[in-house]
Amino acid sequence: MTSFLCLPAISTPPPSLTRASFRGRSITHFQNRLCRIGVKCSYAEAGVVDDLKSAPIDVVADVKSERVVVLGGSGFVGSAICKAAVTKGIEVVSLSRSGRPTYPGSWVDQVTWIPGDVFYANWDEVLVGATAVVSTLGGFGSDEQMQRINGEANVVAVGAAKDFGIPKFILISVHDYNLPSFLLSSGYFTGKRKAESEVLSKYPNSGVVLRPGFIYGKRKVDGFEIPLDLIGKPLERILSATESFTKPLSSLPASDLLLAPPVSVDDVALAVINGITDDDFFGIFTIEQIKEAAAKVKA
Ligand SMILES: NC(=O)c1ccc[n+]([C@@H]2O[C@H](COP(=O)([O-])OP(=O)(O)OC[C@H]3O[C@@H](n4cnc5c(N)ncnc54)[C@H](OP(=O)(O)O)[C@@H]3O)[C@@H](O)[C@H]2O)c1
Repeated sequence: MTSFLCLPAISTPPPSLTRASFRGRSITHFQNRLCRIGVKCSYAEAGVVDDLKSAPIDVVADVKSERVVVLGGSGFVGSAICKAAVTKGIEVVSLSRSGRPTYPGSWVDQVTWIPGDVFYANWDEVLVGATAVVSTLGGFGSDEQMQRINGEANVVAVGAAKDFGIPKFILISVHDYNLPSFLLSSGYFTGKRKAESEVLSKYPNSGVVLRPGFIYGKRKVDGFEIPLDLIGKPLERILSATESFTKPLSSLPASDLLLAPPVSVDDVALAVINGITDDDFFGIFTIEQIKEAAAKVKA
């Protein structure tokens, strides 16, 4: 029995893919996806060249058409995204200063962990073949530090992704909690909004901005597990059960500090998966829309 490998060299999208059917995705996107497809063909009746046209063919396709780069894949939200993506058969690369985390689970072995700082990253190594970049970069500190990690770090990442022709960028941002504008002037929120405008201006037809409120799940800090879900889960249920009574209060300034429903880290991760796989999913997404997007992937 003869078997041989067919690796189709695809340099242009099929003619049937018209501009309309790209739905905002560039030719590079299809090249990135199609070039990652390897098809192994084996012929059952080897040696009978004349029969090739009619001989039965076993085709074994090892298709991993998406390769996502998660910036901050070792963090609380980032690791949930990496795990969900691996589970969905998506190839995953993570970039963070600490590199590979010590989390248990076989999914960890399926992620390529690159240690590095986003400000000094070797993007050639990180972004090669990527079909989407997801940024979980963000955090707290002095005003200047918050501007840098929530804003500038993401601006650098969006610029690199755009320069490398990566067709999709997904940013984990934050809900504004209905805060009055003077409170939104902190480095955390101004950084987030700067990052959001960069995503939406560089990726007008494919960029995704998720704006969750409090995210619950099991956060690991220095080997210890903090079960944020013990608070988050019941709170989410109570707030959704009382939503019709509390809705009128939502126009009050800062009311969302109490009323914005928490969202589970798994739902944020699934909403990201929806963003990676659905070409029509782009723009800004509220807490409720994050949950809806997650439900689509769960279904
Ligand atoms: N947790 C929440 O309740 C919540 C709510 C709303 C929005 N968010 C947003 O969601 C995002 C993720 O939050 P999180 O709770 O998952 O944060 P996290 O656990 O602190 O994760 C942040 C990740 O970014 C990496 N990182 C930080 N600076 C970096 C740099 N210069 N270069 C490369 N990697 C860097 C960290 O790894 P290293 O330190 O090893 O580099 C870590 O992997 C943030 O943007 C946050 O603002 C979170």
